[in-house]
Amino acid sequence: MKILVTGGTGYIGSHTVVELVKNGYEPIIVDNLINSKESVLGKIEQICGVYPKFYNADVCDEEALEKIFSENEIEAVIHFAGLKAVGESVAKPLEYYSNNIFGTLVLCKVMKKYGCNRIVFSSSATVYGMNNTAPYTEEMPTSATNPYGQTKFMQEIMLKDIAYANPEMSVALLRYFNPIGAHESGLLGEDPNGIPNNLMPYICRVADGRLACLTVYGNDYDTPDGTGVRDYIHVVDLAEGHISALKYLEANKGVLTVNLGTGKGSSVLDVVNAFERVNGVKVNHKIGERRPGDIATCYASTDKAKEVLGWEAKLNLDEMCRDNWNFIVKNR
Ligand code: NAD
Ligand code: WQD
Repeated sequence: MKILVTGGTGYIGSHTVVELVKNGYEPIIVDNLINSKESVLGKIEQICGVYPKFYNADVCDEEALEKIFSENEIEAVIHFAGLKAVGESVAKPLEYYSNNIFGTLVLCKVMKKYGCNRIVFSSSATVYGMNNTAPYTEEMPTSATNPYGQTKFMQEIMLKDIAYANPEMSVALLRYFNPIGAHESGLLGEDPNGIPNNLMPYICRVADGRLACLTVYGNDYDTPDGTGVRDYIHVVDLAEGHISALKYLEANKGVLTVNLGTGKGSSVLDVVNAFERVNGVKVNHKIGERRPGDIATCYASTDKAKEVLGWEAKLNLDEMCRDNWNFIVKNR
């Protein structure tokens, strides 16, 4: 079964492509390489023996998408393609709205034209906003506090409306919590360009000496050690969640909204301590001011994912730290 994976050379997309091959699907990747490299395709081949079919194209380019759909009988789409840096989205809202919103609209239009009715969408725990209390359940009200979050919030609404108008559609809105870790081979992972914004990439840069010191953004939150608590999830577990969602869509129509998290909260210091212990490296850190827009605690309710998808995360924080560092060490 041919599955179009938009953003398939990216961090979560590449791990999902591996799982698709392992599960007997035929992934076809479209990515404009704005935040990834074509060399990822060879790494995927090294892991699972298949060099995926690849189109270097923008999902905003309707003609290019039409070509892909006309050349391949695509049964379902997993839509990862998008820009994802919260801070950058505040500075460049036009780019974010245009890429994320327009890209999804063009994709849906072309899917409709070619009678492709199944889509798995990368949403985010960011849609729970600032006013809910963890554990987050899927029916809680959603909102956004920055342009990136707004695009996820709006894309969820757009996809629901599109599905409402077409009873043949099956849509999975997957709300990821904090993906970290890497493929155990050390071939796939994430090492962003420039100074990282997210915790795990920053920790890795400090551990390998490229950055001097991690600033812990606040230790006066109402959490066990005062630092922010998040639900970190191994990217391979997350990728497997997409296979479960795809199988669910094969049997069900309508819209499924579901959290992909572990249900466990870890503080910034928990992550730093686990990383140091598991990898035997030092992560210099100091306590700094809170980061504007951060909340104290964010973790998922995982009941719905277990019940509806039969999926749950298996890998723990130690394994996430080990695999993330292994990727960095092997790719320095
Ligand atoms: P990523 O940047 O590694 O992957 C996204 C991929 O999409 C990249 O390869 C990029 O080149 C490609 N892309 C971007 N715009 C495109 C366009 N217009 N046309 C074609 N390709 C395009 O990011 P990721 O971490 O793998 O995230 C994948 C998805 O999951 C994104 O939609 C992101 O918003 C969402 N998400 C990520 C996180 C996270 O923390 N990583 C959390 C929640 C949701
Ligand atoms: C985690 C914790 C920080 C960096 C973001 C997006 C969210 C989703 C996942 C896409 C927080 C602390 C961080 C640092 C620190 N992405 N921290 N020092 O903010 O939970 O979520 O990525 O959808 O939408 O907002 O992740 O990794 O930035 O932060 O102390 O240098 O680490 O304050 O408590 P966040 P993060």
